[in-house]
Amino acid sequence: MERTHIAQLFANSQELGGQTVTVAGWVRSIRNMKNFGFVILNDGSCFNDLQVVMNRETLANYDEIASQNTGASLKVTGTLKLTPEAKQPFEIAAESIEVLGKSTPDYPLQKKRATPEFLRTIQHIRPRTNLFRAVFRIRSVAAMAIHEFFQSRGFVYVNTPIITTSDAEGAGEMFRVTTLDMANPPLTEDGAIDWSKDFFGKPASLTVSGQLNAENFAMAFGDVYTFGPTFRAEDSNTKRHAAEFWMIEPEMAFADLEDDMEMAEAMLKYVINTVLEKCPDELNMLNRFVDKGLLERLHHVASSDFARVTYTDAIKILEKAVEDGHKFEYPVKWGIDLQTEHERYLTEQHFGRPTFVTDYPAGIKAFYMRMNEDGKTVAAVDCLVPGIGEIIGGSQREERLDVLEERIDQLGMDKDQYRYYCDLRRYGTVEHAGFGLGFERLVMYLTGVDNIRDVLPHPRTVGHAEF
Ligand code: 4AD
Repeated sequence: MERTHIAQLFANSQELGGQTVTVAGWVRSIRNMKNFGFVILNDGSCFNDLQVVMNRETLANYDEIASQNTGASLKVTGTLKLTPEAKQPFEIAAESIEVLGKSTPDYPLQKKRATPEFLRTIQHIRPRTNLFRAVFRIRSVAAMAIHEFFQSRGFVYVNTPIITTSDAEGAGEMFRVTTLDMANPPLTEDGAIDWSKDFFGKPASLTVSGQLNAENFAMAFGDVYTFGPTFRAEDSNTKRHAAEFWMIEPEMAFADLEDDMEMAEAMLKYVINTVLEKCPDELNMLNRFVDKGLLERLHHVASSDFARVTYTDAIKILEKAVEDGHKFEYPVKWGIDLQTEHERYLTEQHFGRPTFVTDYPAGIKAFYMRMNEDGKTVAAVDCLVPGIGEIIGGSQREERLDVLEERIDQLGMDKDQYRYYCDLRRYGTVEHAGFGLGFERLVMYLTGVDNIRDVLPHPRTVGHAEF
């Protein structure tokens, strides 16, 4: 269809003043004042709406257009008139308007602002709201910024498998993938399910992380990253857990924990700066209606250093807070896995900025993390941000074959399954490190939206997989 995007009209309105243009879009609202009326149109190309003015004297089908419902799709041809005095920099004086697709009076998005809870029940329509147009433009810009960041530093983008036979995180939170009839599975002589009869000849699942595969490629390319869907059957019905989410996992050879943190901080700042530059309209709307401190926080983070603290010192800070009367639901003591309330206290109340917590107890972290000299902690790092808590989890990997094998034994893991992983330590092992950024958590941070269900196009959470 011959048409100009509304974004182009806004970008070039001065040059287009007085010219005839054709646009197509969906009706956001119509006001009919008997002899003239206004149609507010949006075509999705930018956050701004376009105002179309129609006049009964010059528009042949004035009544047909005036009676359209919100949500209808129209094609409008008219003159672009500059309106420097008005709120809108220009408007279109309609010469002809064609109805492409009607809508009905029960169109679910009416003038009154809908709650996010209601919008979750109309996942097929909610992308048309201002909230979703802002969030998903930012999500798209952030995704490209991440690719730009790594590509400009020479990282190779690796696509790791979605179906896997290893539990990279060892947390047992995997969705099984099988072609067996589970109501009547084949059994071995001792009555267990006979997985050798399954499609892959052994149990397979959806991936929880591409890290172990990325490590293979880091040992060939040096610096690599993945950016793909990840699945976790965690029974956590919270605002920040989804069963299907996207993760970015860089992996760097010849790098330690310090390099890992520097890369994570530079990446986050790059993404924030890119979104600030490319999405001002979206951010202004979110700052007004969703999170009043959003813009100030993003500007602040882009220009200040992240805080750093060891897990052991973080526990001391939390213990001091308890002594001073702060109430946590979960008790604080060395060895615990930090809960969201602890993470948020550290990053919001104590440090007031994004915070790296390093060197966690080995007992609460994955088998592949490098053991520190103290024999108790591992070279792990989590990045915590105000409003959310953890958005990044990473570590320096155990590159010493003997230490890694000992740990695999200690944890009672199947050594055979990790033979390939150990091979990387047999053939030219090097210190290396990486991290995983939860993309939805980043989008929550960039938009101020406080529920992961509203930054995923079609969220999958415990009990929910609509569409
Ligand atoms: O800390 P995690 O489990 O780390 C890994 O998977 C490592 N293999 C990463 C690596 O070093 N390459 O997960 C990393 C991040 C978390 O910080 C969080 O942001 C996100 O993934 N995440 C989730 N996001 C949404 N829903 C869930 N259920 C998530 N679980 C983890």
